[in-house]
Amino acid sequence: MKKFIFIKTEIPGPKSKEIALSRNQFVAKPMSSSLTPSFIAHGEGSLVTDLDGNRFIDLTGGWGCLALGHSHPSVVAAITKQAEKFTHTDFTAVPYASFVQLCEKLSLLAPGNSQKSVALFNCGAEAVENAVKIAKGYTGRSGIVVFENAFHGRTLLAMSMTHKSFPYKYKFGPFASEIYRLPFLSQYHSSIQIDDLERVLINLVNPETVAGVVIEPIQGEGGFNVPKNGFLEKIKELCQKYGMFFIADEIQCGMGRTGKFFAVEHWNIEPDIICLAKALASGLPLSAVISRKKITDALPIGTIGGTYVGNPLGCQAALEVIRIIQEEDLLSKAVNIGKIIKDAFTSMKEKYPIIGDVRGLGAMVAMELVKGQKSKEPATEETEKIIQYCVQNGVLIAPAGLNKNVLRVLVSLTISTEQLEEALSVLEEGIAQI
Ligand SMILES: Cc1ncc(COP(=O)(O)O)c(C=O)c1O
Repeated sequence: MKKFIFIKTEIPGPKSKEIALSRNQFVAKPMSSSLTPSFIAHGEGSLVTDLDGNRFIDLTGGWGCLALGHSHPSVVAAITKQAEKFTHTDFTAVPYASFVQLCEKLSLLAPGNSQKSVALFNCGAEAVENAVKIAKGYTGRSGIVVFENAFHGRTLLAMSMTHKSFPYKYKFGPFASEIYRLPFLSQYHSSIQIDDLERVLINLVNPETVAGVVIEPIQGEGGFNVPKNGFLEKIKELCQKYGMFFIADEIQCGMGRTGKFFAVEHWNIEPDIICLAKALASGLPLSAVISRKKITDALPIGTIGGTYVGNPLGCQAALEVIRIIQEEDLLSKAVNIGKIIKDAFTSMKEKYPIIGDVRGLGAMVAMELVKGQKSKEPATEETEKIIQYCVQNGVLIAPAGLNKNVLRVLVSLTISTEQLEEALSVLEEGIAQI
């Protein structure tokens, strides 16, 4: 007997099916697929109710944007209050205080002792693009180093920095130039030794022409890959040796998900530049580039910006998100949630040989599904079947990894233990079926 999940029609139900017909007709086809065929009517915390009254437990958290869950009352109140005052000016035309307050908060939260300054944008890709512009603008260098399995977004530069060809790069070349890709050495997959990194780097590119190394401290889309011990430290060391900026893409792993506000804090590293987005404003389009003050402030006025950047609704939402993460100690909550998920996944791994690896930090936990423990051959179709079983039985969970054979949990950090356990039991049923 389920307490939170409530499935009363086939999935999708008749109302969702009706909207799907119009979607097929009017929505651009490349944007017409979705994890669940049901259309949402409303969300509350970690629960989503569809148009037909079916209720799901959402482990996708809006693809990692909803650290506080759907429609957190404090965030809703902050946005509503702001909307009644003004919704837009463009900060460079008529400035507003919340933009400044958010930059102040983020600069004080960022790791390390050096003074920071912050630029706000709309989405993750835009933050990454601007971090690269800033690094190039400051150093006068043109190269960028990225990693295998990386995902940095879909705009031209971010897409070029992203690893996976299909669907992200399709026939969209020519790509941005001077992007060099190193292996990402994780605990489960490592193609070279850490000591080989410098040699591989200097064979790829003269590091003295590289403006920055852009790295997800824990890779998101690429499979929740946790770096091998010593890997991030080595990257930082190479950055310092050759004058390259260490640019942390914390768009998926930041904002408390791993149990620290910034994932990179697990390694005691002070990045030169940090990108944030996703959970920053509870799903409103807002991103940030935090850098050592002397870096971004060295660029001339007007060299970065945009009409909608740092929208006042987003700034108010972000101030609330940060306040709640701190006041409700969601960092400890992330650790507790992560422990429940990891324990459950680990005991499933003992029962089901299809689970090759369980990994993650804090609430950023995933399992990798393989056809053989030794071969590590990706179990892609099986992963999709498990996801579909979950959807049909009231749990929304997302895939990850170049081969889509990783199940990742991006649940909101406010989920109750009871809800989480109910969702995990459905997931286990799905794995047992396979
Ligand atoms: C690590 C990382 N960087 C960048 C992006 C791109 O963000 P957006 O989709 O907001 O452009 C994403 C999105 O998933 C991401 O996970």
